Amino acid sequence: MKALVIQPAFGLENLAVVDRPDPSPGPGQVLVRVRAASLNFRDLLLAKGLYNPKLQFPRILGSDAAGEVIAVGSGVTRFKAGDRIANCFMPDWEDGPISDAAAKSTFGNDRDGVFAELVAVEERALVAIPAHLTFEEAATLPCAAVTAWNALTTAGTSAGTTVLLQGTGGVSIFALQLAHALGARALITSSSDEKLARAAALGATAGVNYRTNADWDKWARQQTGGVGVDVVVEVGGAGTLEHSVKAVKTGGHVALIGVLSGMGAFNPLPILMKAVRLQGVFVGSRAMFEQMNRVIAEKQIRPVIDRVFPFTEAPAAFRYLESGSHFGKIVMSM
Ligand SMILES: NC(=O)c1ccc[n+]([C@@H]2O[C@H](COP(=O)([O-])OP(=O)(O)OC[C@H]3O[C@@H](n4cnc5c(N)ncnc54)[C@H](OP(=O)(O)O)[C@@H]3O)[C@@H](O)[C@H]2O)c1
Repeated sequence: MKALVIQPAFGLENLAVVDRPDPSPGPGQVLVRVRAASLNFRDLLLAKGLYNPKLQFPRILGSDAAGEVIAVGSGVTRFKAGDRIANCFMPDWEDGPISDAAAKSTFGNDRDGVFAELVAVEERALVAIPAHLTFEEAATLPCAAVTAWNALTTAGTSAGTTVLLQGTGGVSIFALQLAHALGARALITSSSDEKLARAAALGATAGVNYRTNADWDKWARQQTGGVGVDVVVEVGGAGTLEHSVKAVKTGGHVALIGVLSGMGAFNPLPILMKAVRLQGVFVGSRAMFEQMNRVIAEKQIRPVIDRVFPFTEAPAAFRYLESGSHFGKIVMSM
């Protein structure tokens, strides 16, 4: 089988689609023919050595895939050959609160990932995919969509909530679609007016260009009658957090997810003066994934795919992700 491997060192020039022995399912495992996989910003950080400097080489990358079950190992009860499935980001987080062990069991980092034609995976780490989705659409769900769902639901998003989203990458566009499904009002920022128009077509109430309007926190407060938004889905990191805390209402919620603008120092004073709840989010459990899938099926939500690359062109897909020109998700088809 073919697999996307990084070796012998970090750097996009060290990504290669190589031949690997076919895996076979052990006890409790399922053998999956991967039909599609999706990229996340994390994959870029991993490949560049900015996520886990101790990554073991060679490592098969990838946290998100969808495919069909082609064989099952002994003791498997949840799946059978022919089932359409996607993997969970953390195989060891099934339900309840996150644990240290679960957080250290992620695909494509702590263990080989799913950017491969065949993967043998514990059955507990798989979910059935909604019937209306293609494999390419379902492959976008495990990281970005579950993260957006966890962030929104932990913040108590419901009808009447105003949510502020940053940029139009994978997490933010899922947050837009899911916030809309929950009845919330979504405000969004982007570096591109054209992308803002696309976000409006997906249900965003209003948008602002953060390149031409650096005071987007003031804009967000104006959109809420000067009060501030209820929830910020914070994917920017050090470059945006100060603005996010200004944009959120007193007693509001900031879901801390990403580091798109890098890492750095932050003054905590405004957080306590406004009694803001700052909640770190690390993807989500299988139970959250299954709960989200029920809503995706009920509302017939279709993930937004920007571009599909053939798996053999995986390094080009990474470079396209690096360019930041996408809207929504980038997919590879096996
Ligand atoms: N904690 C977790 O569990 C978790 C899970 C998933 C992702 N993440 C993190 O969340 C972040 C987003 O991930 P992703 O996969 O959605 O990334 P992505 O698809 O690569 O998102 C890229 C987009 O983000 C926007 N962006 C870039 N810099 C920005 C800035 N300074 N301010 C506002 N928007 C900016 C741009 O949108 P425009 O072109 O519209 O400006 C860009 O196209 C990453 O840092 C990722 O590592 C964390």
